[in-house]
Amino acid sequence: MYGYECLDTHKDRDEKHMRCLSYLISHYKWIIDVYNVDYFVANHWSKVPKQWTQCFEKFDLKDLSNFLTKGSPMNCVLPLNLLSLRATCFALQLSRQTNDNIDSDFCESLKISPNSCRTLDSLVNDSKHPKMKREILNRKIKEKKRHEIQRLSTITDQLLKSLDNCRTIVDCGSGQGHLSRIMSLCYGYDVISIEGNDDNVLGAQNKDLKMLNSLKKYKLMDNIHTDCPKQVNCVLQNNSSISELTELADNHLLLGLHACGPLSAIILKQLRECQSAKGLILVSCCYFKIHMNSFPMSQCAHKLSVPALSYEAKEIACHAIEKFINKLNTRERLSTLRIHCYRALLESLIDKYNPNMRHNAMKSVKIGDNMNFNDYFHKAVNGLNIDIPEEELDSDFVRNCLSQQQNCIIFYSLRLLIAPLVESLILLDFINYLKEDGIQTALLPLFDPILSPRNFVLIAIK
Ligand SMILES: C[S@@+](CC[C@H](N)C(=O)[O-])C[C@H]1O[C@@H](n2cnc3c(N)ncnc32)[C@H](O)[C@@H]1O
Repeated sequence: MYGYECLDTHKDRDEKHMRCLSYLISHYKWIIDVYNVDYFVANHWSKVPKQWTQCFEKFDLKDLSNFLTKGSPMNCVLPLNLLSLRATCFALQLSRQTNDNIDSDFCESLKISPNSCRTLDSLVNDSKHPKMKREILNRKIKEKKRHEIQRLSTITDQLLKSLDNCRTIVDCGSGQGHLSRIMSLCYGYDVISIEGNDDNVLGAQNKDLKMLNSLKKYKLMDNIHTDCPKQVNCVLQNNSSISELTELADNHLLLGLHACGPLSAIILKQLRECQSAKGLILVSCCYFKIHMNSFPMSQCAHKLSVPALSYEAKEIACHAIEKFINKLNTRERLSTLRIHCYRALLESLIDKYNPNMRHNAMKSVKIGDNMNFNDYFHKAVNGLNIDIPEEELDSDFVRNCLSQQQNCIIFYSLRLLIAPLVESLILLDFINYLKEDGIQTALLPLFDPILSPRNFVLIAIK
């Protein structure tokens, strides 16, 4: 399943799909509704069925990437109920692979073709002003963001070309303004950037200013669209009206690149409620920030009584599964596996000696293949108000926990297996919320999930 269209003809399919997802998420709450750092504190392994633990005793961790990859044959025989859980998870999740054939009449009718996404370099080379465009596109944009921008800007342009009388973009949660800047300076659209964080607004304004200076330097001011995005510094609320805030009466396209949980819900609501909002391109992220009362949004999900999603479930849905699988196949494998056990072990020591510091963020530690728990511990708590006796680090308890490293990583992998179901349920709820208002939508995996794990784009038109 590549393009997941959501037109009326698919109503029954969506309901059935959401019902199955809800059933599995509820049934496997013991895997999904917990924190991995509590692995030892809450003795997660004791909840795993005996049949599974017996199988995992003989499990070779080299098989873990196969376990998490659809269609990969495994070298061990899994118990039947685990085998069927694995197959069901792969069958029910929205496919995150970008290289399948696109199968979307909706996208075809709008002449949207994600596979034709041009690289930023080709955009530069094709342009009349390559120097200036190179300035815009290369300026301190990380590889991940470049990849997202090159793909998202192309389909945004394609969608706008197929909409009548719509040349304005409202970029919601525009951050440092990279996408806004490219849509205005490279593609020539009128762009309004709405951003709630003052530092980001300032950063975007500075970058815009530097850009204008570059344009002057290359004497390009007369020849091209030199209107930088209009910055609106405000935090959008559930009851905000974007057209009132921006004094915008023109037809416009709403755009959101990695709009964190609640912001995505606000943007979807705007599309339904604002007459001049004609379309939407939305990539969501940070599902764990979605408020309890904003999920579900669709009547369909309410009718099905989909389960409330815990913070833990929404958080694991944001993990980078493909990146994890990738690391398992590289020399970073050992450290990737070890870090989960070390962090959970540290949490159990915190629980014993500094319980007021439970579930706090620790210092981020890059652990090499040879780093032992003792070294990890000192780096992770450095400068934090955590006081654990040195002798505890060499105790039987610590040795016993470290001997369970394999089980700890397998438990994390079980959580990763189910996590995409949570993301799928949230996204299906989003598209059904629009569909119930007669809005056509499609959901596509647009970004390479290894580079950019939250890779689904929701495309909608009224
Ligand atoms: C993950 S960042 C993405 C930034 C940018 N779109 C990009 O991809 O580089 C999300 C941005 O949305 C902003 N934001 C989150 N909620 C917002 C709200 N309710 N109103 C306005 N901005 C918001 C945040 O400050 C942050 O800059």
